[in-house]
Amino acid sequence: MPEKTEKNLAYAFAAESKASVRNETFAKKAEMEGYPQIAHLFRAISEAESVHARRYLLLMRGKIGPTEENLETAFQNEIKANVEEYPKLIKDASNEGKEGVLKAFSQSRDVESVHAGLYKKAMNDMLTDRETEYYVCQVCGYVSENEAPDNCPVCRAVKGKFLLVV
Ligand SMILES: [Fe+2]
Ligand SMILES: [Fe+2]
Repeated sequence: MPEKTEKNLAYAFAAESKASVRNETFAKKAEMEGYPQIAHLFRAISEAESVHARRYLLLMRGKIGPTEENLETAFQNEIKANVEEYPKLIKDASNEGKEGVLKAFSQSRDVESVHAGLYKKAMNDMLTDRETEYYVCQVCGYVSENEAPDNCPVCRAVKGKFLLVV
């Protein structure tokens, strides 16, 4: 892959990923403000930007491998976020006295190690076809297996804040 093309794909992947999440967040906001049709539009465009992002990622070299390898990559990324990346962000938020941001980063750091654990588990029983359901806390991203807890163990959010992933 020529150098510029590789770089441009990486750039476009990051930009489209961000646009997707931004539109999804606009959709949630529109919903709260009582504009369901606008929310619907934002969600549709968010999905479209995800289509772009996935397409670029698939075109980049060495980003998507066989599932066994992807599980390992995903696991390593969670560990890195937990032990290297978030601690730096937490330190800065703490130094600058940004309490809300500090809380968000700290909870994310904790949640990343839970994600890592789920990947580890999946790596160990990749071939068993045990059906597990996953519920995701919409406040902090904690992932619970098989049922939503009464309160999120990381951020204390109530059961109703958990979304069943389909
Ligand atoms: Fe994670
Ligand atoms: Fe949570």
